[in-house]
Amino acid sequence: MRSLEVRYPVPYPVQIGRSLEVPAPPGPKALLYDRAASSYARRLAHRLGIRHTLGLRGGEGAKRLSVYGRVLSWLAQNALPRDTTLYIVGGGSLTDLGGFVAATYLRGIAYISLPTTTLAIVDAAVGNKTGLNLPEGKNLVGAFHAPKGVYADLEALATLPPPLFKEGLVEAFKHGLIRGDQALLQVEPLKPDWAGLEDYLARAVEVKIGVVEADPTEQGERRKLNLGHTLAHALEGATQGALSHGTAVAYGLLFAALLGQALGGADLVPTVKRLLDWLEPPPMPRLPWEALSPFLSRDKKKQGHTLRWVVPMGLGWLEVRPVPEEILLRCYAELLSLAGPEANRPAEGPPLE
Ligand code: GLY
Repeated sequence: MRSLEVRYPVPYPVQIGRSLEVPAPPGPKALLYDRAASSYARRLAHRLGIRHTLGLRGGEGAKRLSVYGRVLSWLAQNALPRDTTLYIVGGGSLTDLGGFVAATYLRGIAYISLPTTTLAIVDAAVGNKTGLNLPEGKNLVGAFHAPKGVYADLEALATLPPPLFKEGLVEAFKHGLIRGDQALLQVEPLKPDWAGLEDYLARAVEVKIGVVEADPTEQGERRKLNLGHTLAHALEGATQGALSHGTAVAYGLLFAALLGQALGGADLVPTVKRLLDWLEPPPMPRLPWEALSPFLSRDKKKQGHTLRWVVPMGLGWLEVRPVPEEILLRCYAELLSLAGPEANRPAEGPPLE
């Protein structure tokens, strides 16, 4: 078991391992869980004697205002008071939604996160961000609200569908680019039963904790965690969620590497292409740049009217900066030729005899 700590705003543990001891503070308890993780949630509810449970379908749909309202009403209908601890079992969408419920129900109650996907372990559950989507874009509503602890039981990963297992690790790879940590860029051995998985995940979480502690409320340094996400959120928005988050971030990272190269930085394109070879994502949809513009214009990293991109100029060296339109368009055309529908077709050769 690996035990880490986030020290802001008050210290809380982040444990990664198998058969973890989850604390049971005094007071009422409620459990919100992703139905995909119901067997783990059931065991937990039984062990901790939790009577109030609500199962939801995971994924981005869980981050709608209507679902948020439903969860608040469930807490209110059960007359759960302010000293309730909310346990949240699930992937990144559930921990984002549940955290925001905890931040706002009765002006704030305690919660404990039990992430059951690689994405939630490496990114969503650590760092105090909670949030919801609007039809206008992702994560446009939210609050910083720290959990009492994060307990990532790797047993839960055994039942994760392989594409979902891989997708979360795109964020770990991103942490490798941010910190210049070669070990996080080695994705090939990553499998649920790989003996090194616990250390790999802990290493990725350590990067996230370091960034979050340096800039808890995203005034500067933390923006670097959005590497690849500006394009990714626009792709997710323009495809109405048809492109998964991990896939969209992988394409966003390739785009960021192309921007870095175009702006005179190191050539990280082959490094990111190795990630895509391992991920084997569906081809990137051939969307015109104009289809992405409405989503880019609502990006949270805008200052005034200027959109700022996180650009890797080298391993462990990122700049957050505006990028001229002609470079964006050129790199987007390159991205489509590297990853678009035509990119995966076998080259035409002479007819076979
Ligand atoms: N997922 C980006 C952050 O936590 O800041």
